[in-house]
Amino acid sequence: MTHAPHTALSQDELKTLVGRAALAYVVPGQIVGVGTGSTVNKFIDALATIKDQFTGAVSSSVASTERLQALGITVFDCNDVAELAVYIDGADEIDGQGYMIKGGGAALTREKIVAAQSRQFVCIADDSKLVQTLGKFALPVEVIPMATQRILRQFAALGGQARVRLKDGVPLVTDNGQHIVDVTGLQITDPLAFETSVSQWPGVVTMGVFAHQKANVCLLGTAKGVKKILY
Ligand code: 5RP
Repeated sequence: MTHAPHTALSQDELKTLVGRAALAYVVPGQIVGVGTGSTVNKFIDALATIKDQFTGAVSSSVASTERLQALGITVFDCNDVAELAVYIDGADEIDGQGYMIKGGGAALTREKIVAAQSRQFVCIADDSKLVQTLGKFALPVEVIPMATQRILRQFAALGGQARVRLKDGVPLVTDNGQHIVDVTGLQITDPLAFETSVSQWPGVVTMGVFAHQKANVCLLGTAKGVKKILY
């Protein structure tokens, strides 16, 4: 545990705390994998303070790329980098084994790609994200639009309620030109098997359980400071 604050911290302050703590995992002289979301935005802001110490970033979304570049951090194409030492990203839920639900920010496909290319996944999250069993947060799934209705029926058959994510009243379009369905009512007791199974459904681009690309470390923002959990 590091840094014990004297007064209760807001969720935003906890995100800042873990974003800063993640700087310890940036390998000097190397390229760092960068996720997406409000917690990662805190990490990106912190990263800018040490930008002379590493080479640049591989980013998991247009939003993170724009933020990194605006702060003067070089962003490399994923295809130009063979392997990353570390990928730093948030989560919507993380369990006691480092399995996560991700995709609340609709960036799950690129997040899974960069995570797969990284030797270590460092999850940064406030303690509201810690769960016993994945499934309280709606599971995001990126889908090819022509398969949407079929996929909604498949989740209904499993007891879930799936709906298309909307933005301004129309289906949200991801960075990859696809749609997101969010699934509630699932208790994901075997994340590895569930990820394997749903990932094979025709029309599923990426499902938001990160079990095969699970976290190796979680920096959890708590009332007592940053708790480091190793998996
Ligand atoms: C984006 C993600 C994010 O990591 C996840 O939604 C957590 O975001 P935040 O840090 O804003 O709570 O998976 O696709």
